[in-house]
Amino acid sequence: MTYKTLIAPSVLSADFSNLEAEIKAMDAAGADWFHLDVMDGHFVPNISYGAPVIKAMRPHTKKIFDVHLMIAPCDAYLKDFADAGCDVITIHSEAGPHPHRSLQYIKSLGKKAGLALNPATPISALEHVMDLVDLILIMTVNPGFGGQSFIDLSDKIAHVRNMINKSGRDIHLEVDGGVTPETSKIVRNAGADVLVAGTASFKGGPNAYAQNILNLRGDH
Ligand code: DX5
Ligand code: ZN
Repeated sequence: MTYKTLIAPSVLSADFSNLEAEIKAMDAAGADWFHLDVMDGHFVPNISYGAPVIKAMRPHTKKIFDVHLMIAPCDAYLKDFADAGCDVITIHSEAGPHPHRSLQYIKSLGKKAGLALNPATPISALEHVMDLVDLILIMTVNPGFGGQSFIDLSDKIAHVRNMINKSGRDIHLEVDGGVTPETSKIVRNAGADVLVAGTASFKGGPNAYAQNILNLRGDH
């Protein structure tokens, strides 16, 4: 099966004092999606931004808003992220006692539903939700911070790619954490089709964004 590689810059690495310009520059540079990392200081040891900031970014691009919720519990906030203009809403497997219910709820809001697996989360967490998910996110760092070193989980990524192919469903396989032009090749070869990159997308400022994206895509 062939699929296009999508690059999803993580806004966590953008200049927060200038988000409108950052979003517009990254859009013009060829980003496919925007990855929005929401952290609550509880599920992960860091706090980032929430739905009001996403709502403020929304008018500045037409591209997919891919929100990665590192919050627990998540259910009470899902509608806020749908209303803020997120297109894909991803929760963590451990974000509440009933991930199946949370995924159902995201679908009922008319949004695509994603499930994220931490490096230590087993693949079996996916087994009974394959009919519900539109995206599976494999974390290649422990969530909470940008700029961490890549953990090579190629076997896990390849295993999930096989599960997706067997399911016959149209499910994106996204990888997040430490993705650089070098590690991008590893995760693409293992079967990922959506690559999140914070540090590697935003480094060097707006004039470098287009080349950064080409480098991550691997078609340079
Ligand atoms: C980590 C976040 C990532 C992060 C990636 O918890 O989920 O999306 O922003 O940053 P880099 O690409 O710098 O590892
Ligand atoms: Zn993320």
